[in-house]
Amino acid sequence: MSKAIYPGSFDPITNGHLDILSRAVKVFDEVVVLVAVNPEKHFNFTPEERVEMIKEATKQYKNVKVDFYKGLTVEYAKKNHATHLIRGLRAVSDFEYEFQLASANEHVDSSIDMIFFMARGDKSFISSSAIMELARNGIDVSDLVPPSVSKIINKK
Ligand code: COA
Repeated sequence: MSKAIYPGSFDPITNGHLDILSRAVKVFDEVVVLVAVNPEKHFNFTPEERVEMIKEATKQYKNVKVDFYKGLTVEYAKKNHATHLIRGLRAVSDFEYEFQLASANEHVDSSIDMIFFMARGDKSFISSSAIMELARNGIDVSDLVPPSVSKIINKK
């Protein structure tokens, strides 16, 4: 059975992330969406809140699981018998960061490879922090995030 991990901060999950996931589930038998820790970030939502939002937004997929892990994503992948990490690329500016991340991951364990999906044109400007900033300034973000996430953002 082929298995991949889709790691990220998902603070919160957006339609851009869901677009990447919708394509990854066609390639792998199972995909684990993993809320991982980027130590350089301050988060809007707790890991538990992010996991719950992802579960709700991905419940239509039978082959998607959601988890949280504090350590290295390649270690999680190895422990859970996954062979690949999934990431999305939105623009050339993502490339340098992703290249460094991929190199660090390869340094830890080169048996776990990475697969990149290009974001669709209409999703390439979306980021979690941009969505939160728009929402804080009263802009409707319901077309950029799943409906359940939109409700939570509005409450917040
Ligand atoms: N659609 C929408 N947004 C997208 C996107 C897409 N297709 N692709 C990327 N983004 C956005 C995210 O919304 C996020 O926006 P934000 O910065 O405004 O929050 C940004 O791009 C990048 O976030 P994300 O993809 O969630 O990754 P990250 O940089 O926050 O975290 C980890 C990367 C968590 C995967 C990485 O830090 C990690 O693996 N951590 C665990 C420790 C580890 O193994 N480190 C590696 C060795 S050093």
